[in-house]
Amino acid sequence: MKNVLLLGCAFPAELRYFARGVARVGARVFGVDHVPQSHLPDIARESLSGYLQVASLFDEDAAVAAVRAWAGSTTFDRVESLWEGTVLVAARLREVFGAPGMTYEQVVRFRDKDKMKQAVSDAGLRTPRHQRASGAKQCFEAAERIGFPLCLKPIAGAGSENTFRCDIQSDLESALGRVGHVGEFNVEEFIDGEEFTYDTISIDGRVVYENMSWYRPRPLIGRSVEWISPQTVSLRDVDRPDLAAGKELGAGVLQALGHQTGFTHMEWYRKSDGEAVFGEIAARPPGAHTVDTMNFASDIDLFTAWAEAAVYGTWSLQFERLYNCAIIFKRAQGQGHIRRIEGLDRILASFGEHIPCIDLLPIGAHRRDWVKTLLSDGYVFVRHPDLDTTAELADRVGTELQMYAGM
Ligand SMILES: Nc1ncnc2c1ncn2[C@@H]1O[C@H](COP(=O)(O)OP(=O)(O)OP(=O)(O)O)[C@@H](O)[C@H]1O
Ligand SMILES: [Mg+2]
Repeated sequence: MKNVLLLGCAFPAELRYFARGVARVGARVFGVDHVPQSHLPDIARESLSGYLQVASLFDEDAAVAAVRAWAGSTTFDRVESLWEGTVLVAARLREVFGAPGMTYEQVVRFRDKDKMKQAVSDAGLRTPRHQRASGAKQCFEAAERIGFPLCLKPIAGAGSENTFRCDIQSDLESALGRVGHVGEFNVEEFIDGEEFTYDTISIDGRVVYENMSWYRPRPLIGRSVEWISPQTVSLRDVDRPDLAAGKELGAGVLQALGHQTGFTHMEWYRKSDGEAVFGEIAARPPGAHTVDTMNFASDIDLFTAWAEAAVYGTWSLQFERLYNCAIIFKRAQGQGHIRRIEGLDRILASFGEHIPCIDLLPIGAHRRDWVKTLLSDGYVFVRHPDLDTTAELADRVGTELQMYAGM
């Protein structure tokens, strides 16, 4: 029986299903996280053969030492992380336990956006022109070189927080005013266009599953305007000619970064002239329930299929792309606790057969921080074989379903 060490199994919600996937393919799974074992979601707890609570997953040295002491003479055939925050500590532990998989240095190129873009552009692939800048003065110098419009973002950003589009000099001044004049930034050529993902599962550098999602609207807008209900749409037709350049870019990026086995999640831009431009890539699955949209699009279980690929290096899942599947994130109007949900009955009566899952905060629950989490106050999945219909139904969820909060 194989032993798998899983870094992170409590949060986000998807991790429990990956733990269960490993158990389902007949391997023993040992979890590490910072919560007490009794606080683990049931599905995770029931799937684990062992669990270690560490003080923090972010203190790499302490986490590695704790796992080492706990493991004793147990060895691990795989060390896995399905979440951005723990991909590096997992790589460290692979080295410690002599487990196969990507090295620390390789994983760093999926984490450090500067090194990532350097490796991608060194391979002759199109990335936005960019420059690292420290402090306001260097940002203005970089702006002169890169030109407007540009995108200003902190080096270690996530979730589009503190990322700004600047069209003219005064935009840059006010953006710097908002994020503070000190710190490390990336100044990038602003790429106008639509945004997509390219998500894969690979085995030893061979892609065995791929997904393309379409962001509606672009994340920078969806993540900064509260009344919008942002959507991620997993596309049924991933062989569409207008996506071919993105797929080719994706294949090039995986090769340039030496990706081996497991999930990847790449974001890319398609300009109006059709050119595909690299955004960023992570060595993990996409978050915010995109694995669920991928599952609903084909009625499959990629949590388990991933586990088979990761543990045994085999892929037995047969699937057909049956639907486009959108997830629509809802944000309540008002502050405080959810008081009222309107429009749900009408939506269910009108196209409930195209809604595989709904997960909205219940009446009485406190609103989530929509800036911090894309999940916002809940979400609805919609799927349909036809893309235009999927988009139309998703937009109806955006406008006709309304949540209201009050103190
Ligand atoms: N050079 C650029 N040109 C145009 N838009 C950009 C550029 N860089 C970033 N953006 C916008 O900002 C969003 C967030 O940027 P990026 O994905 O690099 O950062 P992030 O903070 O890691 O985001 P997340 O964690 O949400 O994926 C992008 O999805 C895109 O909408
Ligand atoms: Mg991003």
